[in-house]
Amino acid sequence: SKSEIGLVGLGTMGAALALNIAENGFDIAVMNRTNSVTRDFVANAGDLAPRLTATEDLQGLVDALATPRAVILMVPAGDVVDDHIERLRAIMDPDDLIIDAGNANFRDTIRRAEAARDSGNPYLGIGVSGGEDGARHGPSIMGGGDRAAWDRVSHILTAIAARHEGTPCATYMGPGGAGHFVKAVHNGIEYADMQMIAEIYGLLRDGRGADYGEIATLFERWNDGPLQSYLVEITAKVAAAEDPKTGKPLLSVIEDTAGQKGTGRWTAIEALHLAAPVPVIEAAVAARNMSAVKDARKAGEDRFGAGAGRFDVPGDETLERAMIAGKIACYTQGFDMLAKASEAFDWSLPLPEIAKVWRAGCIIRSAMLDDMAAALADAPGTSLMLSDSFAKRVEDSTPGLRDTVSKAIAAGHPVPALAAAVTYFDTMRSHRGTADMIQGQRDYFGWHGFARLDDDGRDHHGPWVE
Ligand code: 6PG
Repeated sequence: SKSEIGLVGLGTMGAALALNIAENGFDIAVMNRTNSVTRDFVANAGDLAPRLTATEDLQGLVDALATPRAVILMVPAGDVVDDHIERLRAIMDPDDLIIDAGNANFRDTIRRAEAARDSGNPYLGIGVSGGEDGARHGPSIMGGGDRAAWDRVSHILTAIAARHEGTPCATYMGPGGAGHFVKAVHNGIEYADMQMIAEIYGLLRDGRGADYGEIATLFERWNDGPLQSYLVEITAKVAAAEDPKTGKPLLSVIEDTAGQKGTGRWTAIEALHLAAPVPVIEAAVAARNMSAVKDARKAGEDRFGAGAGRFDVPGDETLERAMIAGKIACYTQGFDMLAKASEAFDWSLPLPEIAKVWRAGCIIRSAMLDDMAAALADAPGTSLMLSDSFAKRVEDSTPGLRDTVSKAIAAGHPVPALAAAVTYFDTMRSHRGTADMIQGQRDYFGWHGFARLDDDGRDHHGPWVE
């Protein structure tokens, strides 16, 4: 009998997703460019093997599927996706569905969705988060594309998704690139969350001189409180890990240069396109970029000397508040950016549903997201930071952030993302800012005009010209 769904690309994520689909009772045909990978995959699938059909090429995959067909692509983002779409479209029926489940740039997804619509073919671009374990046992799924196409496969995507108290974390976000856009913002927040954690780690390690065990214990404790989250949980584990080769703390042997496949960077780039302020996410991307230029940092240290060694780092509770305040700032920025994109692209993104879909399965899952979903639902159009439940937390936690950042800066210890968070807060509570000067300068050198406080009309000018 024919399979209900097909999957191309048995890399780490594709293989895990295929097993998850099979385990949930769906027959799935799979294909990988290298046939031996496909054969080994099915041979090693144990109990799940009967639900898997190994196929040798795209034609074989298409032949193995019940009509109308649905094929998930789990291939590297970029040209490989376009190539597969082209080859599949040549051999599939017009109403067969292609689902790109990789980390595509949402602009590529918009283009592919438009091309599919022009030729009358259904298309979905879905963001899948949660790493290998998530893909295998329950990822968070952010769907985008044709609503009707989503409805055709949503029973499968819902079945394989993570659950938060019984509610599946698989949601249709909107047409075209909406799903991949939401996934990109997820990754931007992921970068920011990780960077702020790394900065707190740096304060503990270098400023306080704490050992790795103490650091692990502190994050473990935080994971029982308001900061409870997957990233804080794994931070404790990473800090506690020992290097099997040397017996030293694992972190002490890891090179301090961060990799990035680019999704967090895309968020910063798109935020600039949208003129959406996301300074904490931008700082996190910049911090990864600064980490990568290790030789330049060495030259800087040789020339200027390193900043602080030990200094008077605030206590654990203050650091915890700093993390809470930073987290609220970066999520506020992420959700405000989603709201702005929703308007710009005419997507009607469901912000509370986005917070809900991130509550389980994905990398940024955390206890706070449940409250965020409620806050966004209670006060649509209100920035998260200003919602009743979060404004109170901001008031309670911002002094801790300010104390932490100012002590670090005074000592010469870098905290780029936390500093961006406190500066964001201070900027966003200044009704009278300083852009009057920017406008004056723009008018002086370019006659660009400015609005006056005492008159609504535009295009006033200064007395520059004789
Ligand atoms: C997820 C992750 C994942 C991402 C990796 C690597 O949600 O499961 O965001 O999609 O690809 O975390 O990202 P970087 O290489 O950009 O750090």
